[in-house]
Amino acid sequence: MSKALDGVRILDFTHVQSGPTCTQLLAWLGADVIKVEKAGEGDATRGQLRDIPDVDSLYFTMLNHNKRSITLDTKNPKGKEVLAALIKECDVLVENFAPGALDRMGITWKYVQELNPRMIVASVKGFGPGRYQDCKVYENVAQCAGGAASTTGFDDGPPMVTGAQIGDSGTGLHLALGIVAALYQRNSTGRGQKVLAPMQDGVLNLCRVKLRDQQRLERTHVLTEYPQYPDGKFGDAVPRAGNASGGGQPGWILKCKGWETDPNAYIYFITQAAVWPAICKVIGEESWITDPAYATPPARLLHLKPIFQRIEQWTMTKTKFEAMEILNEFDIPCGPILSMKEIAADESLRASGTIVEVEHPKRGKYLSVGNPIKLSDSPTEVRRSPLLGEHTDEVLAELGYSKDAIAALRAERVI
Ligand code: COA
Repeated sequence: MSKALDGVRILDFTHVQSGPTCTQLLAWLGADVIKVEKAGEGDATRGQLRDIPDVDSLYFTMLNHNKRSITLDTKNPKGKEVLAALIKECDVLVENFAPGALDRMGITWKYVQELNPRMIVASVKGFGPGRYQDCKVYENVAQCAGGAASTTGFDDGPPMVTGAQIGDSGTGLHLALGIVAALYQRNSTGRGQKVLAPMQDGVLNLCRVKLRDQQRLERTHVLTEYPQYPDGKFGDAVPRAGNASGGGQPGWILKCKGWETDPNAYIYFITQAAVWPAICKVIGEESWITDPAYATPPARLLHLKPIFQRIEQWTMTKTKFEAMEILNEFDIPCGPILSMKEIAADESLRASGTIVEVEHPKRGKYLSVGNPIKLSDSPTEVRRSPLLGEHTDEVLAELGYSKDAIAALRAERVI
């Protein structure tokens, strides 16, 4: 079966997490992704957080599926010749070097345009133009500078970063969308363009509701949906939300049976207005259906904390899965807190290809997250990540280099 991005060639200069997330997604959608790595070293993540000596780490293998790897010293004049040939052949150059690194390599926008005016040059940077534009940035810096950390955690604790890699993987997703849009626009203009996804901007985009709340707070001086605050005083900036829902339906994380020993025996419970009578019946507080102090959403906002405490008395009598089953019968929105161990074993995620088992020649079988985006006419087959330089000869041969020319480049340590 054909793939959505069949025929699209990506010159992949990405490393670590943000850029590789983007190019992995493009590869899963069918693009031919040629990852360029420093000879002898490769992407730094190959060697980071290793669980098996001398074998590419899971950090690397899980972010670089379905790609080809070539080694190339792009600062060597002969390496630059190979690079020029690749720029002529490819549709998109994707990079997430530190600010200015691509220019220092001599790969300016002008240089690329002269070689291939149809080429799209796509970049992740920590910050967009402005006072921090020259800074190097990793995941948690972006979470902090993009507004996520100041709004995450509990009100009586410090700012907190979140486990979801919204700075790196989140920005990689933003960049992939920008690339696909630029490819589409090129169909009518015939021209490439620059695509920039700054990590701070990507995190802020994912924190959009917090900027909404900042403006609500400035107007009304209160965010009534935060259970911990009806009796508290708000400051002048959106506070940390604890486990409050970001939407109009109040929610909280509640203990379930076994919480004393199992750190994940919890459930997220949403007191959706539409099912309030059902919630009252399930927890045995039927009088709350008509009691004016509880009957309407605005009235309930004044008692969120005690309401959740009462619901928790009920959830603590059930395991998270038992509670889920009962609540789902009444269409009450809720979700178990699943550990990574539970997710790894989840049959539905395995059946849908979101959790996949991949065979690697050096590490054997490992688990990975497959493509979370499902296209009915472009199914994803997850293939293992490449070994360092595994496809150097193959790609150079495709560019017209003879066996002798390849051997000469190798002898001079260009590849
Ligand atoms: N051949 C020769 N040189 C190469 C090369 C190759 N194939 N590939 C990379 N290099 C060089 C670069 O040109 C650069 O050289 P320079 O500093 O002399 O210009 C050097 O290797 C290192 O690149 P750099 O990007 O600065 O790596 P770093 O390890 O110092 O920094 C980051 C890592 C992630 C902090 C930085 O790349 C960054 O801020 N990126 C943008 C934001 C981002 O994506 N962050 C999240 C990462 S998940």
